[in-house]
Amino acid sequence: MRPRRTVLFVPGDSERKIRKAAMLDADCVVMDLEDGIAWSRKGAARKTATEALLTMDFGRSERAVRINAVGSGLEEADLKSTIVGRPDAYVLPKVETPAQLIRLDKMLDVLERRCEYEPNSTRVLALVETALGIMNLREIAQTSRRVDALMFGAEDLIGDIGGRRTQGRWEVFYARSKIVTTAAAFGLQAIDMVFVDLNDAEGLQAECQQAAELGFRGKMAIHPDQLPVTLAAFSPTSEQVSEAKRLIEAYETYQASGSGVFTLDGKMVEASMLRTAEQVLARAQGVE
Ligand code: COA
Ligand code: MG
Repeated sequence: MRPRRTVLFVPGDSERKIRKAAMLDADCVVMDLEDGIAWSRKGAARKTATEALLTMDFGRSERAVRINAVGSGLEEADLKSTIVGRPDAYVLPKVETPAQLIRLDKMLDVLERRCEYEPNSTRVLALVETALGIMNLREIAQTSRRVDALMFGAEDLIGDIGGRRTQGRWEVFYARSKIVTTAAAFGLQAIDMVFVDLNDAEGLQAECQQAAELGFRGKMAIHPDQLPVTLAAFSPTSEQVSEAKRLIEAYETYQASGSGVFTLDGKMVEASMLRTAEQVLARAQGVE
């Protein structure tokens, strides 16, 4: 799977911002047709996003479109306009039931056939952001072969539950934890929520670090300034890489001499830590 450490959202009706986003080397650029677009601009956004897909060079960035929710009445037109630009992926918002993913799958099957694209080549990133979506995560994760990632939307969830966003983030801890655990269980990536305070660089850094510690593979971003700190948080540091290498070497040496458990720098090491070390090395090489 391709890495999605930085997933940059950009309003689908802003050619200027899309042009900028395409040059920022984000892992994924998502042109939004949903909640960031005024009702009166939905048509303009479809047109601008499609034109961007057809004409702009996004470099190595994945080209994605966030359509409106299945059931909104807008989703079919969103897909039909943009599919001709051959997006790499669609972000489906407000995923609550497997039926919504099945419906999207069917629409994409038809459109891929019509456009003569390889079947199932269009990937889906499922944005889960309602109480019902969190409760149905297990089924959502297993419904479609197109789904690569579970993304978490905090603002909608809090609106749904009726809580309040806090600096401590405990109000979304259960949902975030459930997202990373479910994603891991079914071989998907977990992508963390948007950080909305564009003036709080320290807050963003802390939230990115916590997300990486929880097991998220990346985070949504809404502004170019958020990209460097986000990328850094989801990329192993050179110290983490050398520590991982040292642990693996020591493990192999002890294993060869018949010991499965030993101490390194005063800490116990056994097979479970080997897996974490191997993941660090894989991620450092850009492998998911
Ligand atoms: N992608 C690409 N470029 C962006 C960008 C983005 N998401 N956000 C801002 N920029 C550009 C601006 O166009 C500006 O460049 P310019 O002066 O050459 O035009 C530069 O970065 C600095 O922007 P700034 O003035 O700090 O922000 P703003 O006030 O123009 O915009 C937001 C603030 C929040 C409206 C804007 O960042 C945005 O649209 N973010 C995406 C929102 C979104 O998609 N939400 C839905 C998903 S959660
Ligand atoms: Mg949302």
